[in-house]
Amino acid sequence: MSAGKSVGEMDELRLISGAMVILSGATALLVVMPYMLLENVKPPAGLKPYTTEQLAGRQSYIANGCVYCHSQQPRDIKQAPDATRGWGRASVAGDYAYDTPHLLGTMRTGPDLLNIGARQPSKDWHLGHLYQPRAYTPGSIMPSYPYMFEVRQGAARPGETVVNLPPGLAKPNEVVVAKPETLALVNYLLSLDRTYPALAPLPAPAASASATAKERP
Ligand code: HEC
Repeated sequence: MSAGKSVGEMDELRLISGAMVILSGATALLVVMPYMLLENVKPPAGLKPYTTEQLAGRQSYIANGCVYCHSQQPRDIKQAPDATRGWGRASVAGDYAYDTPHLLGTMRTGPDLLNIGARQPSKDWHLGHLYQPRAYTPGSIMPSYPYMFEVRQGAARPGETVVNLPPGLAKPNEVVVAKPETLALVNYLLSLDRTYPALAPLPAPAASASATAKERP
């Protein structure tokens, strides 16, 4: 009877310990380090927490898939000409202090929306654009969201918000009324305004400061 481990057992041991090493490396890199880097980030003074209605609108933004076509992360001018597109300064970690989960997005089928509230502050515009994007941006490939509205004959009921559409979009005698969740969504869009100054960048380390000071041939 042999006391040593068989070749099969050795392989199993190596496989498990190899997997543990890779898993702990990945956890340190992707979970622990980002946590340590971001745990002391404070919300900037200019950023207000979302109201209850804006949070409901944010849920509707997620539920309706806006995040699949719109990013919320204007990039630095060195990476992309976002500032010249009018999308605002490069975002910083603090801009997302109240965003759980953040809605950075991965696709830009449409424009970045992190500063849409500053760029387009008209509630009427947003409501009409959701009802029919092509009435505002000819040729737009953004879907229209007719189910966010009620189209009715005659007058609106008291307390309802009638959408002021461009001429010709609503039939005579018809009113287009925004549903409460649509008003919440637009309220959320209007809250997207990170135009306050970003926190001052950290001073450059001495070594790289002297390197940039030197003239290169
Ligand atoms: C299939 C991709 C797609 C989806 C989904 C989508 N959009 Fe868009 N969106 C676009 C495109 C393309 C434009 C640019 C043309 C236009 O203005 O309609 C745009 C423009 C916009 C604008 C105007 C941006 C500006 O800078 O003027 C807003 C606001 C907006 N979308 C909000 C939304 C919201 C809210 C949702 C979800 C309810 C949504 N979008 C879903 C593609 C999309």
